[in-house]
Parts: sequence; C-alpha cells; structure tokens
Amino acid sequence: MTAPTAARRSPRAALLASGVGSTVRALADAVVAGRCDVHFVGLVTDRPEAPVVALADELGIEVVALPLKKGGDRAAWDRAVADALDRLDCDVFVLAGFMRILGPAVVERFGGRMLNVHPSLLPAFPGKDAPAQALAAGVTLSGCTVHRVDSGVDSGPILGQVAVPIVEGDDAARLHARIQAAERVLYPRVVHAFAHGQLGAESAALTLDSGVPALLATVSMRT
Ligand code: GAR
Repeated sequence: MTAPTAARRSPRAALLASGVGSTVRALADAVVAGRCDVHFVGLVTDRPEAPVVALADELGIEVVALPLKKGGDRAAWDRAVADALDRLDCDVFVLAGFMRILGPAVVERFGGRMLNVHPSLLPAFPGKDAPAQALAAGVTLSGCTVHRVDSGVDSGPILGQVAVPIVEGDDAARLHARIQAAERVLYPRVVHAFAHGQLGAESAALTLDSGVPALLATVSMRT
C-alpha cells in the first residue's frame, strides 16, 4: 500500500483594490475556470464604500478596510496595511485597481511578492490616466503590463505585456476598455505563473483565447 500523499494546497493570494472590481471579478472567474490556481484569502481596501467591497463579500473573500483620511498619518496607514498583509500570510499580493502608492513599510516587506497591472506598455505612461496619456502622445500602440511592485510609480520589473492597437475614433474610455480586455487574459496567467514559481521557466509566447482581436494574439512573458 502506498502512503497517502498530502493534498497540494493552492498558493494563498491577497487582493488590494479601491474601485469597481472588474479586475477582481476577472481573477475570481479565472480561478473558477481553472486558469489561475490560487486561493484568494483576503482583500485590503482604502475605500470601504467602493463597489469592489460588495463584490468581495459576494465572493466570500474577507475584507480589511483601511481608509486613509484626508490629513491622516500616512506612515501609520502604511504600517496598518503591512500588518494586514502580514496577517493574511500570502504567497502573492495582487494589486487589482489599488489607487494609492504604497510606502516603504509595505514595499520593502512585500514588494518582491506583489504584482500590479497597469493600462499601458510600461515604461511608457506610468501613473494616472494612462490611456489618455497614450492618446495625447499620439502613439499607435498601447497595451497593458503586469509588473512586480517596487518603490517607484509603476516602475518594478516587467513580467508580462500585451499590445493593444489604438484605432480611429478612440477616446480614453474606449481604449481603456479594450486594454482591460487584454488585462483579463494576461493578469490571471501571470498571477498563476508567479504564484507557482513558474516565471523564468515558461515559454515566451502564449496564445490568447478566441474572441480577442488577431493583433493581440501574442502575449509576451519574461522567461
Ligand atoms: C485596471 O483594470 C487597470 O486598467 C487600472 O485600473 C483598472 C481598475 O479597474 N489600473 C491602473 O491604472 C493602475 N495604475 P477595476 O477597479 O474595475 O478593477
């Protein structure tokens, strides 16, 4: 008789989010579909009133609300975020529309395991309103980037990107919506690969699901 083997547990993952929750929804859908093997154990938010909080409740994900009041103690807030992340005890921390810059108390401790998705082909157009920045610059190609978080603004090591063409008649909202469609494919793939220690061993080219325009048919991930 062979000895029973322990069931392999999914890597533990925490979310940080401030907004609508479409990124969280896409990640949760990918988990259910078997495309992203992680267990989301908690969501930290700076905006308890944000729609993403109701979504986390619906998904049965614990919410830790840490609002930062105007004029509040920024260093104390960073320490509270770091303590919350510490308590969630995760393998990977996933920024999903988290709209605050995290301070050194968080980044120095968790940055190596913290991922962000940004709606541009970094290092172009970091910071706010990236789709509008791309349109204003007159580029013909934008896209999305998943990167590790460091102490800069959208400046950490790049883990994966998808290019999205800018088309006639685009405005910032339309371009952002098409970029988000690409994010929904790329982010779960990178979260899964990162959480399973596969980045560095995967093939560079991944084929996207059908329904994505042909020009988007290649995702590049760092190998
Ligand atoms: C993300 O999809 C991403 O494009 C952008 O915010 C969206 C959040 O939407 N992220 C950034 O600009 C990060 N610098 P959501 O609140 O519906 O998930």
